[in-house]
Amino acid sequence: MEQKREDRPIGVFDSGLGGLTALKELRRLLPGENLVYFGDTARVPYGTRDRETILRYSKQDIRFLLGQNVKMIICACNTVSSALPEEYRESLGIPFVGVVEHASRAAVRQTKNGKIGVIGTNATISSGAYEQALKTIDSKIKVTVQACPLFVPLVENGYFGTCNRVARLVAEEYLSPLKEAGVDTLILGCTHYPLLQDVITDIMGDAVILVDSGKEGARFAKSLLAGQGLLNPQLKRGNCRFYASSAQDFEENAGRFLGENLSGQVEQIAIDSYEV
Ligand code: DGL
Repeated sequence: MEQKREDRPIGVFDSGLGGLTALKELRRLLPGENLVYFGDTARVPYGTRDRETILRYSKQDIRFLLGQNVKMIICACNTVSSALPEEYRESLGIPFVGVVEHASRAAVRQTKNGKIGVIGTNATISSGAYEQALKTIDSKIKVTVQACPLFVPLVENGYFGTCNRVARLVAEEYLSPLKEAGVDTLILGCTHYPLLQDVITDIMGDAVILVDSGKEGARFAKSLLAGQGLLNPQLKRGNCRFYASSAQDFEENAGRFLGENLSGQVEQIAIDSYEV
């Protein structure tokens, strides 16, 4: 018997582990949903690669998830969200949720002084996707952007928390132009960055609102599923299957993001073999 559309899982992907920050929120918001997560841990980071490579990798990630019979795809990666063209998303035949647009909407809703900062990978920042999204929502918004290429390796290697001197030093350097610009709202335009949230708040000050792009994507996904009558009505807790291109890297580090041990629960797949 064919599975009903609402019973199918939601697919979530990222270049690596960062998207788990979105997955965590999704599990909180939609505990009854079945989820499939793919992290491209063998090819992370994407944010330092050229657009053509990012597009090829992300299309392979999406092809894999489509093969898992998902009812929706959440791209929990700002680097991919900034690069994937609209026509491609629309050609997939199922709802596709990125993070850039929803994080931008949340930031515009919350700013009081109209000055918004965006931090992200080199690829996200140089794509100009955030400036474009923010200006489309409100042309009067003043946007200050800053690429933070060292943040992803810091997080992947466990260098975060207010006591971490390395993280603090790097963050002070990256964040100083945003402080100078007087932003009252800062978009964490990379799903790895919520792990640096404490350090960032310490430097920017408590008054600056931090927008978590993965969480905003998850929130929008919930409202979209509800609007399309696609929420899973099951009362028991949904399951979550984890796939990665390097299961070892994934299992070793996922605990930092999810606060839960995934040893022996991650299946490795050969993502390079997926045709685009
Ligand atoms: N988590 C990805 C993002 O949101 C960045 C990591 C990478 O560079 O691959 O942009």
